[in-house]
Amino acid sequence: MEVFRIRGGVPLHGAAAVAGSKNAALPILAATILARGPLTLRNVPRLTDVAALVELLEQLGVAVDADRDGAGRCLRVRTIDPLPSFSHHEPARRIRATFCTLGPLLARRGHAVVPLPGGCRIGRRPVDLHLKGLAALGAEIRIEQGHVIARAKRLIGARVSLAGPSGPTVTGTANVLAAATLARGRTTLLDAAREPEIVDLGRFLIAMGARIEGLGTSTLHIAGVEQLAGCDYCVTADRIEAATLLVAAMITRGSINLTNVVPEHLAAVLELLAEAGARIDLGPDWLRLIAPQVVRPIRVLARPYPGLPTDVQPQLTALAALADGDSNIRDEVFPQRFAHLRELARLGADVRGGAGEAAVRGVRRLHGARVAATDLRGGAALVLAALAAEGTTTVRRIDHLDRGYERFERKLRGLGARIERLAEVPAVGGVQWPVSAPQPEAVAARNA
Ligand code: EPZ
Repeated sequence: MEVFRIRGGVPLHGAAAVAGSKNAALPILAATILARGPLTLRNVPRLTDVAALVELLEQLGVAVDADRDGAGRCLRVRTIDPLPSFSHHEPARRIRATFCTLGPLLARRGHAVVPLPGGCRIGRRPVDLHLKGLAALGAEIRIEQGHVIARAKRLIGARVSLAGPSGPTVTGTANVLAAATLARGRTTLLDAAREPEIVDLGRFLIAMGARIEGLGTSTLHIAGVEQLAGCDYCVTADRIEAATLLVAAMITRGSINLTNVVPEHLAAVLELLAEAGARIDLGPDWLRLIAPQVVRPIRVLARPYPGLPTDVQPQLTALAALADGDSNIRDEVFPQRFAHLRELARLGADVRGGAGEAAVRGVRRLHGARVAATDLRGGAALVLAALAAEGTTTVRRIDHLDRGYERFERKLRGLGARIERLAEVPAVGGVQWPVSAPQPEAVAARNA
């Protein structure tokens, strides 16, 4: 395992280019199963979730090659006919995005066996709406030994709502949208997700020859076609990475120039940061933020797009820990998404969490400590808090961060952060030390 060691207290300043979107790249990669011709995907982020899905696709008979310059951001993809049967491959269990292969496999091959996605620390992750949508298209679905087994000779267009108890489902919309592109006849998806990642998936499908209208709205109209071809497609920028970097500048009282970004995807985040005192300038594909010396308290309500993204809620909770007053954090998408509060408290944050919300009283300073990432965005929140804290922080379980941030420490070091990735040595006397810290026995010998 590896850790981040962060020596905080340094304002970040500088420029960073935003990577391709994880949450667009994953459903797009899954949808390559639909193509009968070669594809080129550009701006694909180098993440462990992407690598795991690529490994799974290769088990499925989909050939995937990274580009020659090894940047790994351009993938060449080719499917073969017929696709071999689904493999219960290890990566399949590791990542939730595997579930995005269900709709494309069903549409392309007429059957699919996909492991039910695991839960995680942000709350329940049901898939009932995915199954409801695919059943509406005529799929026969059953669940056996932790797997969804789905069959359909030919999917038939239908009219179906994907509304859930806390709004639309993003990957549920991805699954049903992808499947509907090869269904016979017309499909209307009501209460579909409007997230930019779904718009990007829709544009990718249209580039392959799909007929889709209504992208960006909650009603999607799809006219099924007989087959989809290959295409050359560039994945949109990762709005969640962009927001995370903006909060890194904000919490350290620094400034940042972001490039390769889509400002309109961040409207709710920019509005909130401006209310907290940030000065923000923007252009077609760039953003500049200058943090105030005193951050005003914030009221965070995470909702489906175009509301404030739930994937930025933990990072904003970290910012609130150093605001000048009392902040309130609520998450309507994942009401349980507060596992990071306990770890933020170890850094000195004054946080109180209940069901679906947290109260944060700003403190004058945070102090370095040993903390552990609870999940991807909770881990990002801890890194941001550590960058602002006085002293040294060790963040364990950074494998969570590698799922969604491409070499996060390099990007932060480019902004002046004092952050290192270190191997975690086995616990000695129950305490785990980063490799470069003086080992207990050395300390003991020195003090002998
Ligand atoms: C996607 O997850 C993202 N992941 C998540 O990002 C993101 O937090 C989430 O959408 C919400 O925006 C990917 O795109 C890979 P949902 P997803 O289905 O699709 C309920 C990150 O940090 N629901 O939109 O799994 C569910 O319980 C990750 O990058 C049902 O009730 O989320 C939740 O309350 C974390 N039934 C709400 O809908 C279903 O069948 C939204 O879930 C499906 C979902």
